[in-house]
Amino acid sequence: MVHILHLDSSPRGDRSISRALTKQFIDVWKQIHPDDAIIYRDLGHHPVPAIDEAWIAAAFSPPEQLTPTLDSALMISDELIEELLTADLYVLGIPMYNYSVPATFKAYIDQVVRVRRTFIIGADGYEGLLKNKKVLVITTRGGSYAGEPLDFQEPYLRAVFDFIGITDVTFIHAENLAMGADERQFSIAAAHKTIHQVIAAWQLDYSNVLYS
Ligand SMILES: Cc1cc2nc3c(=O)[nH]c(=O)nc-3n(C[C@H](O)[C@H](O)[C@H](O)COP(=O)(O)O)c2cc1C
Repeated sequence: MVHILHLDSSPRGDRSISRALTKQFIDVWKQIHPDDAIIYRDLGHHPVPAIDEAWIAAAFSPPEQLTPTLDSALMISDELIEELLTADLYVLGIPMYNYSVPATFKAYIDQVVRVRRTFIIGADGYEGLLKNKKVLVITTRGGSYAGEPLDFQEPYLRAVFDFIGITDVTFIHAENLAMGADERQFSIAAAHKTIHQVIAAWQLDYSNVLYS
């Protein structure tokens, strides 16, 4: 059985295109593999808190020095990291906000990038601990930025995922969503098609290992 972490970060509801696209992925996957487990996180509607002084003190304290108060500062972080460790595949919906990720997603990143839990500092430097994970990032954008210097989303996410060990990263950018109905339709249709291709590719990767 595969575990999928499905995460949305748009604050919008029914009008959110990133939500519709991640849902499409999950719906199709569930039709093929109804027994797979989906862990759902809605950061857009239920944001996780920004890290604070207690969090930083706790995260960087040696484990033997953790008091119950320090420990409780990491409760949410522990829960989120557990989800990341449990899931084999991640499907993330992330709108572009001001050239980058929404603050809700940045707060999530700050909660899960944690020494001794998702990375370690070894003899050869930093090492990410989230091994053998695959991530599909579906971004939505009013304009067109893929491959351009103003795209602070994809390079940032690649860097931060790489830091915690996630190197198998696929992006689908649904762009030009604010450029009129035709452009929007075209972009969403292209994203739908690519979602099916990613599902086919991931299934191939996993069929021998997990479904045999
Ligand atoms: C606060 C805000 C900032 C935005 N910044 C950008 C931006 O920098 N570049 C861009 O192409 N689109 C930008 N957009 C447009 C969104 O990326 C676009 O509306 C997208 O569809 C939002 O995702 P959603 O449909 O899942 O809510 C912005 C939208 C909002 C509300």
